[in-house]
Amino acid sequence: MNVATTSFFSPERMASLHEVATPCYVYDLNILGETLNRLQAAVSPRNFHVHYAFKANTDKRILEIVREAGLGADCVSGQEVKCAIDNGFRPNQVAFAGVGKTDAEIQLALQHDIFCFNAESMPELQVIAELAAQTNRVARIALRLNPNVKANTHHYITTGLEENKFGIGMHELSSVVDFVLAHPNLELLGMHVHIGSQITDMEVFRTLCMRVNELQEWFASRRIALKVINVGGGLGVNYHEPDRDAFPNLEQYFDIFSQHLHVRPNQEVHFELGRSLVAQCGALLSRVTYIKQGVQTQFAILDAGMTELIRPALYQAYHKIENLSAIGKTATQRYDVVGPVCESSDCFGKAVDLPETKRGDLIAIRSTGAYGEVMASNYNLRERAPTLYF
Ligand code: LLP
Repeated sequence: MNVATTSFFSPERMASLHEVATPCYVYDLNILGETLNRLQAAVSPRNFHVHYAFKANTDKRILEIVREAGLGADCVSGQEVKCAIDNGFRPNQVAFAGVGKTDAEIQLALQHDIFCFNAESMPELQVIAELAAQTNRVARIALRLNPNVKANTHHYITTGLEENKFGIGMHELSSVVDFVLAHPNLELLGMHVHIGSQITDMEVFRTLCMRVNELQEWFASRRIALKVINVGGGLGVNYHEPDRDAFPNLEQYFDIFSQHLHVRPNQEVHFELGRSLVAQCGALLSRVTYIKQGVQTQFAILDAGMTELIRPALYQAYHKIENLSAIGKTATQRYDVVGPVCESSDCFGKAVDLPETKRGDLIAIRSTGAYGEVMASNYNLRERAPTLYF
């Protein structure tokens, strides 16, 4: 049953939503603040460093709060690097990843003397070296290795297998390392791995630690000291119970790395968390435009669609759907909750049980703070949805 009992949509907040224009994104900055407090409490005794993965959400107010919490930035495009710096993140806390960095993006990052490039291939390293040499700079490099660890998540968001396009394979590691060590404009800072996203099976992270330990042995056997071990992001959230699990279990997550990762003297452990920090602070608000009776299906057609939240259409991802206009009503009916976009995949949920739902009802789609607004599009020439904050 999808009766909202949430503190996210408390009665006081509901009162302020009567007139709200929909669709819109709403962010609860208290949830974000509390998540970051818990993050701080978990990382500071462990001396772990966290870069916020910008790709999850680049809302200005969210970035401001993340920056004030002291996090660095994990960027995957020149625009994200620029956005981080424009929003006050210190260049020496910016990591730049991505398999296809263009010359212009590399130049921009070099100009800002960012913390490091997470480099993914030999041809990329050759270009970084060449561009760094042209301007007499030294680019710090973390080699993104493909650890061939299965993330146990949706195949579209698995990144650490040999079949994926990401990272440097073991077959070429030796020649890549030789190249970096020999080049005067490159400094080998460390290694980087990232195996996927929305990982809820903690055993996967333990396996990752073991794999990183093996990779470290490889470097140690060649007497190469790595200052930075970056283990990426990927911690999942509970899309089914966003109120009960409004906060990720960061203690448990970091504990795994404390216990299983063999950290060497003077080595720093870095993380790149996105989803787990921002997913639960966001919701997408929408109104029902029509209830349409199909042959066997009852459709609730919303004014939000895949243009505002593409995850269900793209990955069959589950997001909890609540009828905020029917809080407290217990008798339910079954609906396919769909958007207005001209695509059959524009569906937020099939066979969703909701209280009887009418035209004009306010609907919340939960846990949209990560990979929601950032993946929005103007398809069908739809306008970008505005944002409001609690
Ligand atoms: N670091 C790297 C190198 C990454 O590729 C990613 C995410 C992260 C960090 C952050 O991972 P997180 O902590 O957010 O799981 N659009 C998809 C998710 C794509 C994630 C891509 N990489 C979705 O909506 O599920």
